[in-house]
Amino acid sequence: MKITILNERPGQHAADALILLAFEDAGVSPAAAFDPLISALSPGDFSGKLGQVYSLLLNKKIARVFLTGLGKKAEFSAEKLRKAVRAGARAVRSCKLSRFSILCEQFLSDPVLLGKTIAESLLTGLYTFDKYLSDNEQKAPSVDSVTLLYSGASAFAAGVKEAEIVCASANRTRDLVNEGAAVITPRALAQHAQSVAKQTGFSCTVLDAKAIAKQNMAGVQAVAKGSGEPPTFTILEYNRKAKETVVLVGKGVCFDSGGLGIKPGKYMWDMKIDMAGAATVLGIIEAAARLQLPYHIIALMPAVENMTGGKAYKPGDILKYANGKTVEVMHTDAEGRLILADALIYAGRFSPDIIIDFATLTGACVVALGTQVAGIMGNNDALVAGIQESGLATYERVWQLPLYEEYTEQIKGQVSDLQNLGGWAGNAGTITAGAFLKEFVPEKAKWAHIDIAGTAFLDEVKDKYDFGATGFGVRLIIDWMKRKKR
Ligand code: BES
Ligand code: MN
Ligand code: ZN
Repeated sequence: MKITILNERPGQHAADALILLAFEDAGVSPAAAFDPLISALSPGDFSGKLGQVYSLLLNKKIARVFLTGLGKKAEFSAEKLRKAVRAGARAVRSCKLSRFSILCEQFLSDPVLLGKTIAESLLTGLYTFDKYLSDNEQKAPSVDSVTLLYSGASAFAAGVKEAEIVCASANRTRDLVNEGAAVITPRALAQHAQSVAKQTGFSCTVLDAKAIAKQNMAGVQAVAKGSGEPPTFTILEYNRKAKETVVLVGKGVCFDSGGLGIKPGKYMWDMKIDMAGAATVLGIIEAAARLQLPYHIIALMPAVENMTGGKAYKPGDILKYANGKTVEVMHTDAEGRLILADALIYAGRFSPDIIIDFATLTGACVVALGTQVAGIMGNNDALVAGIQESGLATYERVWQLPLYEEYTEQIKGQVSDLQNLGGWAGNAGTITAGAFLKEFVPEKAKWAHIDIAGTAFLDEVKDKYDFGATGFGVRLIIDWMKRKKR
């Protein structure tokens, strides 16, 4: 989809369709009421409620307008604008109009934010994953080009450009998560990372099973044992010369059957998404590189399948990690923390200032926070607060859970240093998983752990365009990186 910016007023402009955004109970603005038919509308026709779309056939230079509600002015925010633009754009698309325009007024005072917000609503809101639908009627019609009518600062165009880069990455993350595990195996995930790195121009090293064994990656090796698919461990690196080093770590469990502690079908069906953390860090480093952000960034993607083959790892197995720590496997379904531990140890060799990990780590996080907010924990409150601020700005919100030292008691072992379960009762499952990871964080690194089990994939929504992978985390961390350097 191509986005063009045009300095034209609606009266002069020609288009198949034009989206006009208007506040609730405020009437359409003078700029939007360029046609007598629009001026004649009453609040009974169109109230401007958030997301309401009223379409009207003019049959003139502008063939149709789609009046789209922004909600009450007093309650307005960037997120309301995103929701409105998405609703308007989807309504136009459903009419099979492949080109349309949007009248962009100063809804937000910062022109960069205005351009970025409108563009990202279009680029993420019109995303579809319908390559497996054989009936074209079931697919969303495609939108080829959108023209943004805007008169003003070039900063608006800069915002649009940034959104184009970040949303392209976020949508690729969504594609990877939506794709089935038969396609996105650990090796396929690594190959995908390799091609992104090559296209974008940063380095990529893939460790295969042999190299993983050589590095003594105890968790990756153990979890991978029950699968016919060998594990991979991918290392992406961008901008080595920059002063500040950020290591991103993403859980890449390409399928999580639970292993021998197998999941019931109802909890297994969507476990192709268990590599969302890895797909997220790939999206972040890609976007950061394309935006040339001034950090040294490393993304680590440990990738495995958690299966039940004859060689599968078993409860009671004790793993010895490269840093000397031992872990007893109590539950084979708590596999994510086992492979992340290897990656956190590996992160130490870069002497990072900051480590941020993403993982669809615990069902408990879905219970606690649902699908709209991710859990965040860490060892540095300023880092967590900074990410929270970006969460509010991008609406990829995170909520901090307390990683108090007492939780660490729950994961201490009897015959090993640690165990991979905080107890059978499942008490504070999200936090004890975080406490486990904390034991592997290299000294001196500031670290944040983001549990995206609930936010990575929406499977209980009725709207088929909201269903599926969200790309949660890509916009969040890019915003955080940009904010930090401002
Ligand atoms: N991948 C799951 C967590 C998950 C659940 C992600 C739902 C997305 C949606 C993880 O590996 C897992 O199985 N966690 C267990 C941990 C338990 C055995 C301590 C869980 O949440 O039940
Ligand atoms: Mn699991
Ligand atoms: Zn898992």
